[in-house]
Amino acid sequence: MKDNDSRLLELMEEAITSETMDPETIKDILKQGKRRVKRFDTIVKQADKQLLEQVYQQEKEFDLRMQNERMMAQQAKHAALGEMMDAVAHQWKQPLNAITMLTDLLIIEHRQGSVDEAYLKEFKSDMWSQVDHLLTTLSEFRSFFRPDKASEVINMRKTLDAVLLLVKDELMKNTINVTLDCEDDISAMVIKNEFKHIVLNILNNAKDAFVDNNIAKREITINVFEDQESVILEIQDNAGGIPEQILPDIFKANVTSKAEGKGTGIGLYMSKQIADKMSAELRAKNHDEGALFTLRIPKVAEKEPE
Ligand SMILES: Nc1ncnc2c1ncn2[C@@H]1O[C@H](COP(=O)(O)OP(=O)(O)O)[C@@H](O)[C@H]1O
Ligand SMILES: [Mg+2]
Repeated sequence: MKDNDSRLLELMEEAITSETMDPETIKDILKQGKRRVKRFDTIVKQADKQLLEQVYQQEKEFDLRMQNERMMAQQAKHAALGEMMDAVAHQWKQPLNAITMLTDLLIIEHRQGSVDEAYLKEFKSDMWSQVDHLLTTLSEFRSFFRPDKASEVINMRKTLDAVLLLVKDELMKNTINVTLDCEDDISAMVIKNEFKHIVLNILNNAKDAFVDNNIAKREITINVFEDQESVILEIQDNAGGIPEQILPDIFKANVTSKAEGKGTGIGLYMSKQIADKMSAELRAKNHDEGALFTLRIPKVAEKEPE
């Protein structure tokens, strides 16, 4: 084919430059050349069309994937919102009960004529400490769902304390003891709310595992430490471990061992997405008594002055 083409080119050159070639032959050679060009044209056009088709298919697949991911993120948000609402409801029950009780007591004491200035002062301060608790929980809850997409340097201990405050009641209700081991001065560069999300997901899963596996003595240990390159957060429980058949796929979407309506299989998928976004590494494994989740957050290199 190639040889034919170069032969044709040679002939065409000869036809154009030759002074002796007869006009009929020249015409014939040029005709052949024209036919050849036409064929090339068709081939190129076909290839173009195929390429276009391919690009179009790829774009379609990409769109579909994006759509799926958006849907998944939305689902995860709803699931997290539900879990948070539960946490807040539990968190609020106790102070609301206390407020009702304090008010009932005030009325009784008033009837008995024992409400004086000092009593009222104490009443007010008791009331305030309950209201304060309600407000703290509420503001934590609100800031949790406010979008803050930028990374920032956070104090690990304070941030973990804030997450624990959110789930304190839920953990207590399920008699789960949490130990946090973290030096005061460890900080990390993360997207704050999303980081909290990861921790909350892991804690919630541990809680579910304790309940599902009917564990008597329930312990969660949170350890934070540093090495040269990273800040490392370990969350370990003694809830019996991740089912072995699920373990390899635990960060995939829709992987759950929980009953329909109880599990979504989205929590850890989302957690992994968030970790990826922060260039952090999230891993899960089992140990003797339960699960161990490790989040390794890279330290950001100090920027050299220019
Ligand atoms: N601490 C844990 N102990 C045991 N199994 C766990 C633990 N954390 C996660 N898993 C397993 O991983 C699965 C996926 O978790 P997740 O993505 O949060 O979805 P969901 O909680 O909705 O099932 C759970 O269904 C459970 O089987
Ligand atoms: Mg979960």
